[in-house]
Amino acid sequence: MDEIRVFAPATVANVSCGFDALGFAVAELGDELLLRKRSNRDVTISNIEGAELPTDPKKNVAGVVAEAMLTAANADFGLDIQLIKKYKPGSGLGSSAASSAGTAYGVNQLLGGPYSTEALVEFSRLGEALACGTPIADNVSAALFGGFVLVRNLDPLHVISLPTPPNLYVTLIHPQIEIKTADARSVLPRQIPLETATKQWAHVGAFVHALHTSDVELLRAAMFDGVAEPARKGLIPLFDEARAAALENGALGLGISGSGPTLFALSEGKNTAILVAQALTRLYSVSDIAFRTYVSNISEHGVRTLTQS
Ligand code: HSE
Repeated sequence: MDEIRVFAPATVANVSCGFDALGFAVAELGDELLLRKRSNRDVTISNIEGAELPTDPKKNVAGVVAEAMLTAANADFGLDIQLIKKYKPGSGLGSSAASSAGTAYGVNQLLGGPYSTEALVEFSRLGEALACGTPIADNVSAALFGGFVLVRNLDPLHVISLPTPPNLYVTLIHPQIEIKTADARSVLPRQIPLETATKQWAHVGAFVHALHTSDVELLRAAMFDGVAEPARKGLIPLFDEARAAALENGALGLGISGSGPTLFALSEGKNTAILVAQALTRLYSVSDIAFRTYVSNISEHGVRTLTQS
């Protein structure tokens, strides 16, 4: 194989209750990457569409992940990468994770598949470290595994794939402001009271149980974030109003997607998810904030091959 074009899904990290631990992949939104072998050992980025990002491979997450993998595998080829970004970086939808995970998956295919999915998460975390200063694993795990994931442990890495209840849909609203993950992490409390922690891990347990039993009422109850949301919601215009509008229109819950500013709402059924999107559209339309909305099911698959030759 000399070249591969892949689709790398957008991802929602935290999923309200599981800061840095839970995530899921969005079926209908994601980036494309084209990776071509080069005969010399260089890594280049010849084209980036849809975003202003560095083409210097040492400053771009895709370049850093590719270089690390080719070195680790002692590859006798280099790589040219093209990134076709379909949504904005700084959205809270795992834009850097899509580039990192898409590259890790593509390079693994070009190498003949020596690495496990968890090993690809480890390589992708190098990209996250470059993008936001911390090798976060939730977005890249969701992008590579697909569906819902739980990052149980970072060192050694252990990612658990969780089931997706049937008929679960996500509504996304992306106010077109940029929040850098590093900035959104800098506002988080360094310590939390034991009571808050107890409540939070009980909700994560309930959320995981709800996924396994397809119990949407429990899912509704479990979508609580007492850790990151109180510190971050002030960064997102109309957050409280958006939650109220989503719940009034039947959503199970609404929270911040990753580090924001995108908000995500989970709903049972596509029609409810569309009603929620319409309500959020009405809300943001009367503000002067530009925005985009998406309705999607949860992606069964992680990064996947579009074409190869
Ligand atoms: N879990 C990370 C955070 C995801 O909330 O900072 C970043 O998108």
